[in-house]
Amino acid sequence: MQKGYFMPTEVLFGRGTIDLLPSLLPIQKAQSIALFVGGSSLKKNGELDRILNMLKGKNVRVIDHVPPEPPPSFLLEQVELMKKDPVDCVLAVGGGSVMDLAKSVALLAMQKEDPITLLTSPPATFAKAIPTVCVPTTSGTGSEVTPFAVFWDHTKKKKYSIGHAALYATHALVDPDFTLTMPPYVTATTGMDAFTQACEAYWNKNANPQSDIYALKAISIILSALPTAVKDGLNIKARNDMALGSVTGGLAFSNTRTTACHSISYPMSLHFGVTHGQAVGITLPEVIALNASVQSERSAAFCEALDVQSIEEASDVIRILMQKSGLKTRLSELGIKKEAIEIIVKEGFAPGRMENTPYTFTEDALRSLLLRIL
Ligand SMILES: [Fe+2]
Repeated sequence: MQKGYFMPTEVLFGRGTIDLLPSLLPIQKAQSIALFVGGSSLKKNGELDRILNMLKGKNVRVIDHVPPEPPPSFLLEQVELMKKDPVDCVLAVGGGSVMDLAKSVALLAMQKEDPITLLTSPPATFAKAIPTVCVPTTSGTGSEVTPFAVFWDHTKKKKYSIGHAALYATHALVDPDFTLTMPPYVTATTGMDAFTQACEAYWNKNANPQSDIYALKAISIILSALPTAVKDGLNIKARNDMALGSVTGGLAFSNTRTTACHSISYPMSLHFGVTHGQAVGITLPEVIALNASVQSERSAAFCEALDVQSIEEASDVIRILMQKSGLKTRLSELGIKKEAIEIIVKEGFAPGRMENTPYTFTEDALRSLLLRIL
């Protein structure tokens, strides 16, 4: 049975929306706030001070050392801290890693059960999370509007995901001005992640009419904005469009989850250190062609979003988008050799991802796809 579209997060979008932060209900009501931030750029560009100024009079605990792709050990440490010293509201200002971590801490700290058990085998229901406000500083992950979070154990080469309706943020405050200082490569990889997520939301067994509208809109916005945002980071229109494309794509895949491109990307990232957006984008031109071969009736709307006449042309346009953004389109360019393909085949079937793909992948089909893009 088709599931209905569901979205509990209140989304505020536009330049200057950061000024609305103090008026958001969870912030207004909070006496104590945990503020999660990533690297030093927020401090350097003065945005952290600006936010702290807005929160004057409240007890604010700043966690400013969230690592990129946080390991489960960091999550557990933060959950313990939160249990010992709880707050009324969690605020995340950062990229996907920061938002994923903050949302998960806000949820797991409110549960009685051991967080590792919750992470490895999530229960059907959770106790309510601490209200969470997300302010993204990249245009890519969509975490501000999705019920997903990912953690990476690079030592054990293992990835942990949580996907549960209890993980939605209460508010997403998307201010494109916060993305202006993103370096070109981060813009490219996060932007390609957003583009791929939108394409995967469309070519998805869980797609519904609402997610289709969001996905197709996100695809056309990102296609035209990404190369400019990469080349000219201070181009306000491109940054505005990327932020809109990213959050719109998030609204699409929040309800469908991702598919084969994400599934195949995980061993590429864990074993070969390929950045997430690069890893998901590299198989996209091939994956959409396979999906279109089994759902040809869905090709026309997809091609229209990309302003092309055929799926072959759509695959070419995606390869050109990646090249124009400075990303690679062949595995060998990422240092992945023919011998390495078997480990990607072996570990590329992620539960909760691969089976959402309309095309039914076998190991042989995945192997020949990887050989085609070697
Ligand atoms: Fe992604």
